[in-house]
Amino acid sequence: MKTNRIGNSVSFPALRLRRLRRTAAIRDLVQETRLSVKDLIAPIFVQDGIKRPRAIESMPEIYRLPTESLIDEIQSLFDLGLRSVLLFGVPLRKDDSASSAFDDTGVIQRAISLVRKHFGNKIVIATDVCLCQYTVHGHCGIVSKSGHVDNDSSIKTLAKVAASHASAGADIVAPSAMMDGQVQEIRAVLDSRGFSDVAIMAYSAKHASPLYAPFRDAAHSTPEFGDRRSYQMPFSNSKEAMREIEADINEGADIVMIKPAIPYLDIIHQARNATNVPVCAYSVSGEYSMIKAAAMEGWIDEDSVVTEFLTSIKRAGAGMIVTYHAKKMAELLNR
Ligand code: PBG
Ligand code: ZN
Repeated sequence: MKTNRIGNSVSFPALRLRRLRRTAAIRDLVQETRLSVKDLIAPIFVQDGIKRPRAIESMPEIYRLPTESLIDEIQSLFDLGLRSVLLFGVPLRKDDSASSAFDDTGVIQRAISLVRKHFGNKIVIATDVCLCQYTVHGHCGIVSKSGHVDNDSSIKTLAKVAASHASAGADIVAPSAMMDGQVQEIRAVLDSRGFSDVAIMAYSAKHASPLYAPFRDAAHSTPEFGDRRSYQMPFSNSKEAMREIEADINEGADIVMIKPAIPYLDIIHQARNATNVPVCAYSVSGEYSMIKAAAMEGWIDEDSVVTEFLTSIKRAGAGMIVTYHAKKMAELLNR
């Protein structure tokens, strides 16, 4: 016999955690973290100048869509209970000033107004605000004559891009270029043009990660020289991630994002505890493709791995998750 903290004798082993695991119904009752389809944001690639959906080799079952297919695709997400999309444009033209990124008749602007017109406010339209798909060199900012990515001219352009998305009808703009001061500049320009209602979801702790490789195939945004380590975060630094998050909140971010998700659960957790803003996690293309590849080989069970990974991201503290598994996860949740 042993005595417990309140003085009663208990026989060993007192702790029988297995009691609450005995049946599926009990396990369901004590489940702490529950994913909802409403937590999920589906990324969508919209490509200019194509007529049919184009497969992305490194991302099985994900397509670049022509604007003509957008409504059907989003309707199928809507029918599953999904309500939020994150749109990425793949333009026809690239140049040094990323001019097709802030062209009011550009592919992403047309996509936004189409979706807004068709779905009204029933769909949350978030848009990625970056320059890498739109510049010839594929960097996320403007490259100066000396060959480096220039911060202060880049944030001016990013703000123009955000304003053009807002004007087309975006609910949320999501700057992902990792330029210093981008949130403040975007907030100021949005407010000055009458878009004070448009929210900013800052890609705050966006790490320089090889897990973006499939995305760069999809969006044609691989940098032609160098890499993104002079602006994206090093994966070794969590204090720096918190400084990025703090800075973005101070600059006016409405939602902060951590990216990638699975290798960064500690940062998601810290962000959740240190702030009171909604925290979003972006489970990126490489995370998707690794699961897909192993599942296609029959080495893991896709449905259970996807459920475990996405639930773990939520358990760590993410209130919303951008994931290429959104449709599959919604199907599983609706079962
Ligand atoms: C654009 C952007 C990238 C991703 C989201 N926005 C690519 C990059 O930074 O190279 C990556 C998303 C993914 O891998 O799914 N800056
Ligand atoms: Zn970019």
